[in-house]
Amino acid sequence: MSGPNTNYDPVEPAALDPRTIDEAVASALSAVAEAGSLEELKALRPTHTGDRSPLALANREIGALPPSAKAEAGKRVGQARGRVSQAFAARQVELEAERDERVLAQETQDLTVRVARRPVGARHPVSLVSERVEDIFVSMGWEIAEGPEIESEWLNFDALNIGPDHPARQEADTFYVAPTGSGLVLRTHTSPVQVRTMLDREPPIYVLCPGKTFRTDDLDATHTPVFHQFEGLVVAEGITMAHLRGTLDAFVQRLFGDGIVTRLRPNYFPFTEPSAEIDCQCWICRGQDPSCRSCGGTGWIELGGSGMVNRRVLRSAGIDPDRYTGFAFGLGIERSLMLRHGIGDMHDIVEGDVRFSRQFGMEI
Ligand code: DAH
Repeated sequence: MSGPNTNYDPVEPAALDPRTIDEAVASALSAVAEAGSLEELKALRPTHTGDRSPLALANREIGALPPSAKAEAGKRVGQARGRVSQAFAARQVELEAERDERVLAQETQDLTVRVARRPVGARHPVSLVSERVEDIFVSMGWEIAEGPEIESEWLNFDALNIGPDHPARQEADTFYVAPTGSGLVLRTHTSPVQVRTMLDREPPIYVLCPGKTFRTDDLDATHTPVFHQFEGLVVAEGITMAHLRGTLDAFVQRLFGDGIVTRLRPNYFPFTEPSAEIDCQCWICRGQDPSCRSCGGTGWIELGGSGMVNRRVLRSAGIDPDRYTGFAFGLGIERSLMLRHGIGDMHDIVEGDVRFSRQFGMEI
């Protein structure tokens, strides 16, 4: 058994020399301080903290020391490694902050910079005319009434005295709603709203019924399968055709200008008796220009139909025809628009091109 090696000369390995360690720390700290980017900092790590770095080497040498020297050497190396790794961590934080600031500055958007606006839209002239007409009647004290676009055959035809054999009831004009025999159609005019209104309200009735209407016409220069009408209805005691005439004159003067008058031409509609076609004095030439394109030189422009509400219609809507009388009229909006603005082709109205709508003035 051998005794303790009392002659052991504890010569410290070179790597553990305090000067060597201080130098290793100093060189690591100055390299870290000079690292200008996260990449550079990363590249320094193997040299200063890797397995073959001076401090890792020193750490490994501690094992070879006598027990009495181990604690002090361990403390020295541990502190040195701690300072180096702290320096790396601190520089890492600094460099990350710099990078973030740089990226933020690069990606900043100046929200105050003016950019091109979206193209401007325009309200459709059909909407503009409808609202104008509604305003005129509302200002005369009338109410607006609306009905559904899918309508019962009874309200669209029968209640308006349009019998089963009437030509307007043939498939050629009417969109019938499936299945066959459903009793439903796409309304062919706004007149069913008259009946709905009379069923709903008590006279005196003063209503304007604007809305979309449908007929099985092909879209061409003068026809469209979907169009717009407005219907007027007055029912009260003592209403005569003079009231109809006065109302129409007041209306066209508000719409087209002072002095414009209407004229009534005898006609036939099943739901009015007597019935009349409404002509309006040409507001372009006022009858003065034989070559006027709007009225064809006649001085008159046809606006729509009208008449005294047929007794049978009053009765089917539950109104006593011996006590009340009424007048009604129906005008097409597209038609009036084409005449008023000299629009030669229905496609322009239907297609909704903003360049067309913009000419009517109201941009959005
Ligand atoms: N409903 C008719 C049509 O669409 C227009 C019409 C004519 C309505 C005479 C009326 C009227 O109220 O009295 O052609």
